Amino acid sequence: MKVDVLLGLQWGDEGKGKVVDVLTPGYDVVARFQGGPNAGHTLEFEGQKYVLRSIPSGIFQGDKVNIIGNGVVLDPALFKAEAEALENAGHNLKDRLFISKKAHLIMPTHRILDAAYEAAKGERKVGTTGKGIGPAYTDKVSRNGLRVGDILWHFAEKYAQAKQRHEQTLKSLNFEYDLTELEKTWFEGIEYLKGFRLADSEHEINKLLCEGKKVLCEGAQGTMLDVDFGSYPYVTSSNTICAGACIGLGIAPNRIGEVYGIFKAYCTRVGSGPFPTELFDEVGDQICTLGHEFGSVTGRKRRCGWIDLVALKYSIRINGVTRLIMMKSDVLDSFATINACVAYRIDGREIDHFPYDITDSVEPVYVELPGWETDMTKMKSEDEFPEEFNLYLTFLEEQLGVKIVIVSLGPDRTQTIERYVEE
Ligand code: GDP
Ligand code: IMO
Ligand code: MG
Repeated sequence: MKVDVLLGLQWGDEGKGKVVDVLTPGYDVVARFQGGPNAGHTLEFEGQKYVLRSIPSGIFQGDKVNIIGNGVVLDPALFKAEAEALENAGHNLKDRLFISKKAHLIMPTHRILDAAYEAAKGERKVGTTGKGIGPAYTDKVSRNGLRVGDILWHFAEKYAQAKQRHEQTLKSLNFEYDLTELEKTWFEGIEYLKGFRLADSEHEINKLLCEGKKVLCEGAQGTMLDVDFGSYPYVTSSNTICAGACIGLGIAPNRIGEVYGIFKAYCTRVGSGPFPTELFDEVGDQICTLGHEFGSVTGRKRRCGWIDLVALKYSIRINGVTRLIMMKSDVLDSFATINACVAYRIDGREIDHFPYDITDSVEPVYVELPGWETDMTKMKSEDEFPEEFNLYLTFLEEQLGVKIVIVSLGPDRTQTIERYVEE
């Protein structure tokens, strides 16, 4: 059986959580493969809103198996808060959520280190979510990390050693901190974690595949935040791209089937770093207000701009996207015209490929398209789409070379229209 992957093509927050929830009925297993509680995946249905951070977005649809893979970094304290809130809302997790023993733990000192490194960077700070993601992945790669499986044997000793190492670094940075409360909730989280099925998830997932089960991998962040291919150093610390699913779950590359690439009808970014199509005018403010563009995790205002097809083409290529999903077009429902960036102008020269470095001298080259000026939020079929909206879809498909198979017209599960549905 093949494994399908769904991932963000921009700078995160494309609407992955909503669409994974919509697609889950067609799958038996939903798995997260990278990132951690820096993610905030929002789902809305039956008048309820949930924001998931470490738990896969397949958790609300029947008895599907949900897996937190080895590529994820897990904060036990935040996991406990997230899981308990779901359990209190009547969602049983323990029977159907597996956690990889090889997933790395985010320690309280990782969060402090995250803050200390950001403070030391001053104006060049990344604008991280402050969840300790970078320091936790650093320990993983430098072979100093603690893994979920470690909590089962001699954990106190392993924890003390790692903490001591972190404290030395913090001392050298002259960074003041207080671990008391953080450590208390963290150890409560460790005990809570022991009540879950801590699994060799690479075996579990391959076994399920051999039994003919369908697996959907849920990306976090977005391609432009990938540690290798994003706008480095203003990126996260994991591989957010399709290949990350193989590494973060133990799936062979030849298992990959459909790759769903998800993007907003415009573009947003939260945190620092280059963003060629960013708008600093009232249009940008309007997109922010209409799209409620504030971080699901941090509440930070997201920077807003027009769609960037140069960056999108790059993302599509790197991920091998086979199907596109366009989100939040309803946010543009009232605009008379819409811009799409088709090239960058650098020092007077136009390029249509994504460059090594994006500096302030990169200027977007736009094509202006007519807006549809129609409220589309209650539409139920593509037959109702206004002509100008169809024009936008056709323009994007021609530019990007991949079909847009889902259009999302609002945050609710039901505000979703599938296209090219086979009879
Ligand atoms: P994710 O991190 O990719 O899952 O995305 P987030 O949940 O961080 O951000 C997407 C936001 O847009 C959430 O508040 C969603 O409820 C909301 N959303 C998702 N799809 C749509 C849509 O089609 N239209 C509108 N207006 N909001 C949407
Ligand atoms: P989802 O999965 C948007 C950004 C941060 C910062 C950079 C590094 O909800 O789309 P980190 O804490 O990972 O070290 O921060 O990456 N970032 C996100 N931006 N959506 C996310 O996740 C993000 N996760 C991290 O703002 O610029
Ligand atoms: Mg998000």
